[in-house]
Amino acid sequence: PKQSEENLRSPICCIMGHVDTGKTKLLDCIRGTNVQEGEAGGITQQIGATYFPAENIRERTKELKADAKLKVPGLLVIDTPGHESFNNLRSRGSGLCDIAILVVDIMHGLEPQTIESLNLLRMKNTEFIVALNKVDRLYGWKTTRNAPIVKTMKQQSKDVQNEFNMRLTQVITQFKEQGLNTELYYKNKEMGETFSIVPTSAISGEGVPDLLLLLVQWSQKTMVEKLTFSNDVQCTVLEVKVVEGHGTTIDVVLVNGVLHEGDQIVVCGMQGPIVTTIRALLTPHPMKELRVKGSYLHHKEIKAAQGIKITAQGLEHAVAGTGLYVVGPEDDLEDVKDAAMED
Ligand code: GTP
Ligand code: MG
Ligand code: NA
Repeated sequence: PKQSEENLRSPICCIMGHVDTGKTKLLDCIRGTNVQEGEAGGITQQIGATYFPAENIRERTKELKADAKLKVPGLLVIDTPGHESFNNLRSRGSGLCDIAILVVDIMHGLEPQTIESLNLLRMKNTEFIVALNKVDRLYGWKTTRNAPIVKTMKQQSKDVQNEFNMRLTQVITQFKEQGLNTELYYKNKEMGETFSIVPTSAISGEGVPDLLLLLVQWSQKTMVEKLTFSNDVQCTVLEVKVVEGHGTTIDVVLVNGVLHEGDQIVVCGMQGPIVTTIRALLTPHPMKELRVKGSYLHHKEIKAAQGIKITAQGLEHAVAGTGLYVVGPEDDLEDVKDAAMED
């Protein structure tokens, strides 16, 4: 129906995979940021969130000359750690998303946390796209910065193409061993049954336009119902953090609905439900990472989907991974408190 198509929220996309496959670097490449180099030991240890407005996606994909209109306002991407000790964060991220990118290092193929991530996604029937990353590391690779993958593949020597095909075939075989059909995205004629592989480089940006376009097209084509904006607030606490000048804050992902400054909210606390009032709704600038300190934009209200930092009193004992509830005029506070503590 036309009306619902015009009121879509941004899809939430989680990026997952084994440690050091290039998840954060891929996001840096799209954002034009340097988050990965600022990480301790080059390891992601928190969930992140970045909002990509549709106009940035349009700009980044224009060389693909896709006539398809972008119907979603943007894309909210959740970065997750690949290190084995952060299974809980991968689970939290995958639990939130509408669609996912599963990153595989072309030089390594499937690795333990690739398979763990894959199983988390399958458990929730979440659609995903495989980014076969680090193609620039193939011996003799000739880079065309930010080029669509088919274009750059044509520039490669026969040897490079052969090595690429050999490694691709290995990866497809490894997925098959996990019970999954996969295929290069531009050869995939059965999207939905066969998962698409997009070769990428986070260093040169090659294949990144393809990845972005496929993500947006695939989600707005197959998830209209799921992505139709609803006024019912659906919101999850990602992290609880002390921020200088703001006290204890919570980073949340607003999946659906609208939050307002001054809303009465309830979150799960270690010593019982926390009832408080939103003092400030903060977001980083578009294309900036929520988990990285920076300047914040202040909002009177925010519509889903967004990654938001909320300041309020009494958040010290809030529990990450649980729901945030808004107390509406019709709601019974005790019921909302019970709901919050059930998480
Ligand atoms: P965790 O979050 O810790 O699991 O790692 P990650 O998957 O986010 O990988 P990260 O972005 O930290 O990248 C790991 C290393 O691989 C860094 O040294 C990157 O510079 C490098 N790297 C990432 N993508 C590419 C790529 O496409 N090509 C090359 N050559 N190096 C890459
Ligand atoms: Mg990372
Ligand atoms: Na890393």
